[in-house]
Amino acid sequence: MDEWNDQADQGGQDGPVETVIEVRNLTKRFGSKLVLDNVSLAIEKGKTTVIIGPSGCGKTVLIKHFIALQRPSAGEVYFRDQRIDRLSEHDLDDIRTHFGYLFQEGALFDSLSVAENIMFPIRQHHRDVTRKAMEEVVKAKLAMVGLDGFQNYFPANLSGGQRKRVALARAVALNPEVILYDEPTTGLDPIRSDIINELVLKLEGDLNVTSVVVTHDMKSAYKVGDRIIMLHNGRIIADGDADQIRSHPHPTVQQFIHGQVSEDDLAVLRMSGVVAQSQFLPRDFEK
Ligand SMILES: Nc1ncnc2c1ncn2[C@@H]1O[C@H](COP(=O)(O)OP(=O)(O)OP(=O)(O)O)[C@@H](O)[C@H]1O
Ligand SMILES: [Mg+2]
Repeated sequence: MDEWNDQADQGGQDGPVETVIEVRNLTKRFGSKLVLDNVSLAIEKGKTTVIIGPSGCGKTVLIKHFIALQRPSAGEVYFRDQRIDRLSEHDLDDIRTHFGYLFQEGALFDSLSVAENIMFPIRQHHRDVTRKAMEEVVKAKLAMVGLDGFQNYFPANLSGGQRKRVALARAVALNPEVILYDEPTTGLDPIRSDIINELVLKLEGDLNVTSVVVTHDMKSAYKVGDRIIMLHNGRIIADGDADQIRSHPHPTVQQFIHGQVSEDDLAVLRMSGVVAQSQFLPRDFEK
């Protein structure tokens, strides 16, 4: 597959690039299942890098390695110049304060109010902050996501989009340098999705945050991504800006960005009886 990988030149015209996160020859297996296959990747400071790829291709597993929530089977992970994949949980505490992480599941604590959810990471990392100072942070972060006034709500009383925005407010509570977003727009309507896109852009613009966004949503990928990377079968098969991805020669990339099912996948589904040979799909009517 390597002939397709155009290895977009990472320098650009703006001189040397500062790398915040780097994985080198990262391989991850779960038992005999190979999920990441010798992946090397450097995430540039102040940029938004988008990771796309089919469900189950290893996107979440990859970004969990960035904060050592997963450990490599082989290979190395660096935060700036520090190797982190072998640090103890205790030593990682400090590294992780530089990161905000928006989990795929949203994962608010149901038994805590919105305000307490946002205070949670502050309490974890800074035991000496006063209640008043925390309340101010909560107010500012909620205002950022358009939810000031919702401090005393509980997650159960919020819509899906509001919960995502509270989770984002919590992810930025410690003013992180790097924010990892795992599927931030999944399950949201187009307008709510676009609000999240705007927030990603705003954080990059105002605070010079480095962002990594995992998404299935190509509209969002093109909008927020300075650089888009596609994972497939545990490897990077495309790496470039929006235009390079749109015109990428790899057929798997084209199928993915246009939402088509590959012939291989169809063959597997037909063999398994999930799609009968006689069933038509919308694409069968395309010219
Ligand atoms: N803790 C784990 N133990 C065993 N297998 C795992 C574990 N975590 C992930 N996997 C497997 O690794 C593969 C990649 O999972 P991952 O969650 O990274 O996919 P993904 O690309 O994020 O998919 P999606 O788009 O559906 O979120 C899957 O086959 C999954 O079953
Ligand atoms: Mg995932």
